[in-house]
This record gives sequence, C-alpha cells and structure tokens, in this order.
Amino acid sequence: MAIRNIVKDGDDILTKKCRPVVKFDQKLHTLLDDMAETMHRANGVGLAAPQVGILRRVVVIDISPEQNQVLELVNPQIIAFSGEQEGNEGCLSFPGQWGIVKRPNYVKVRAQDRFGEEIEVEGKELLARAFCHEIDHLNGIVFKEVAERMLTRREIDSMNAS
Ligand code: CO
Repeated sequence: MAIRNIVKDGDDILTKKCRPVVKFDQKLHTLLDDMAETMHRANGVGLAAPQVGILRRVVVIDISPEQNQVLELVNPQIIAFSGEQEGNEGCLSFPGQWGIVKRPNYVKVRAQDRFGEEIEVEGKELLARAFCHEIDHLNGIVFKEVAERMLTRREIDSMNAS
C-alpha cells in the first residue's frame, strides 16, 4: 500500500466526470488499498478516485471513529434517498474550508465491490452525507458548488476553539 497525493482546490481534474470501472483487477485493488490508506492518513471520512488523480468511479468511505471499517464502492449509484439534513461539510481537497450543505438524511447506494459483485449499502446522517459528497466527486461536482454558503474565517476559528 502507498500514500497517494491528494489533488487540491483549483486542479481541473476535480471538475471532470469519471468513467465507470470495467476491470476488477489488481490495479483496482491497489487503487482501493492506496485510497483507504491515504484517507486514513489525512484523517478523512471519504475519498474519491479523482482526488488522487484517477478519473474512475471509485470511492472509499470510513466514518467509524476507530477508522478501520472501510466501505469500498465501485461504480456507485444512489438508488433511494429521503429526508433532509443541513450541516458543515469539508473535503480533503479543500483543506481549511467548510461549507453548510443540505443533503438527504437517508441514502441507499447500489455499487460493485472490488471483485465486481453487486452490493447495496445504506446510511443516514454522516454516512448519507458521505455517500452524496463522494458520488458528487465522480461527476465533477465539489461541495463548494452545492453549499448553501461557505463558513467565514471567524466561524471556522470559533469551530476550532470549541
Ligand atoms: Co471531497
């Protein structure tokens, strides 16, 4: 496994639409392993392949505090959602920036695992938010574009102080 560079704000790759994965081979497995390691090292709860420079529909998510329950989603699609939540959202590609983003409170996703088997996963609250945020990345959409507004410097400072 290896840590990969995280693409940052201003890089065009974050605005590109990703292609589906068609080969469930060792190269994909290495990408998934590297993405999980990179996400954990950066203390993130999710990472999408374009954030490491790969324009493929691949996402890893880990919202557990112990950070060892990695969800691997290949070619994920939202197939159901309900409710609404509004809260702070950040992104490993936009360090130090936070926005208030409305998301569904419940989301169900159909995807494939690393071997190409179809899986369905569902989540609410933070996990539902992570599904939406990461799948947006695969379509070239970053949270700043869908945020109600971005937090001010002052708001971020008081968030860090509490
Ligand atoms: Co992000």
